[in-house]
Amino acid sequence: MRIAMIGTGYVGLVSGVCFSDFGHDVVCVDKAEQKIQMLQAGDVPIYEPGLDVLMAKNVAAGRLSFTTDLTTAVAGADAVFIAVGTPTRRGDGHADLTYVMAAAEEIARAVTGYTVIVTKSTVPVGTNRKVHEVVAAANPAADFDVASNPEFLREGAAIDDFMRPDRVVVGVENDRATEVMAEIYRPLYLRDFPILTTDLESAEMIKYAANAFLATKITFINEIAGLCERVGGDVKEIARGIGLDGRIGNKFLHAGPGYGGSCFPKDTAALARIGQEHAHPMQITETVIRVNDEVKKRMIEKIREACDDRFNGKTVAILGVTFKPNTDDMRDAPSLTIVPALIGGGAKVRVVDPQGMSEGEALLPGVEWCDDPYAAAMDADVVVLLTEWNEFRALNLTELAGTMRTARMVDLRNIYSESTTLKSGFETYVGVGR
Ligand SMILES: NC(=O)c1ccc[n+]([C@@H]2O[C@H](COP(=O)([O-])OP(=O)(O)OC[C@H]3O[C@@H](n4cnc5c(N)ncnc54)[C@H](O)[C@@H]3O)[C@@H](O)[C@H]2O)c1
Repeated sequence: MRIAMIGTGYVGLVSGVCFSDFGHDVVCVDKAEQKIQMLQAGDVPIYEPGLDVLMAKNVAAGRLSFTTDLTTAVAGADAVFIAVGTPTRRGDGHADLTYVMAAAEEIARAVTGYTVIVTKSTVPVGTNRKVHEVVAAANPAADFDVASNPEFLREGAAIDDFMRPDRVVVGVENDRATEVMAEIYRPLYLRDFPILTTDLESAEMIKYAANAFLATKITFINEIAGLCERVGGDVKEIARGIGLDGRIGNKFLHAGPGYGGSCFPKDTAALARIGQEHAHPMQITETVIRVNDEVKKRMIEKIREACDDRFNGKTVAILGVTFKPNTDDMRDAPSLTIVPALIGGGAKVRVVDPQGMSEGEALLPGVEWCDDPYAAAMDADVVVLLTEWNEFRALNLTELAGTMRTARMVDLRNIYSESTTLKSGFETYVGVGR
């Protein structure tokens, strides 16, 4: 199959690389010239474990290339994937479809022969039908179908998620498009990964329902954690106690500083907006959004308490600022709410993150970047574990405590325990929900 991938961000690049590894001929397109130049030079613009090796392998095999020239990439393709961003529209929470519709128009003018135009971006119900209208209006002679193929990969584990998915969802309108999509995903089908074929609307809704459900699960355990802090109980034990129930499951039950990232905040906002627009308020999702905001504020209060109730004059070491480990993505990371509050209160903030600095430097003005946790903690009053990178899971706590002015830990990921930290020389340990 010949595939054109429009948008070479996290999803477009990972999908393009993995499709080429399936054996398809893939051209990845992006408007950002600098990004394409980097990729053409063999450099990967994002941090995603294993992506560099897989990309180099498929470029060398002649199956994968990068261009800014959409017209040439689309001409003759069997399938054109739209993987551009759908950020939150300023002001109303709606998914901004400007990039999707602009891409659809460009694709319309470039298609030659039968083509399936596949939306991989996360889009509200009805968008694929609008894409159909836009393409038909821009090029009435175009021979095409649309398909919805939402992506479920997680940053940090994206290649494994793409190659070994829990399921692939494909929304289609007819057999002709189904056949093309089946051919594209044949390698997964042969390995028995479930391919779910639905109508367009169901596929679109599955993606929002999945993300809203996961955000709800995280927020639920975060709310239980807050209650534990008032009434007793250890949220880690509670999560284990409920997670062993097969109906509940143990994933997404780690209490922490609130969800962030490139998907959950914008997708919950978009789902809430869709509900409002159709006189069916998504009350659970709306509450989840509000509670998640409160969780982040509660984390700031936790750190303030550890700083003797005032940030002014204190030095705080922050371990991890990306929204989760194994990515350099800072979009909607809890650090973007927490760190400015500390600085605004007068704290001096030192930061260490294995991959976060390239994105984070511009987003977190006023912090001092350090090379390792011990340098960050030097003469600090409080160390805050914010993102659970492996690099922070087995720290030499005695050494860490020894470098600090007052050895206090706020562990927003519950990596350590009170007994271990106190034995290692910390004077206080504060976790989440314990
Ligand atoms: N990041 C994730 O983990 C993830 C997971 C699942 C789904 N998604 C969804 O996938 C979509 C893409 O997300 P992302 O994180 O990859 O976004 P991104 O911002 O990393 O990448 C989008 C890319 O599209 C390019 N682009 C925009 N318009 C273009 C056009 N007309 N032609 C060519 N290139 C164009 C941009 O320059 C950018 O490089 C979103 O809808 C998102 O919700 C993301």
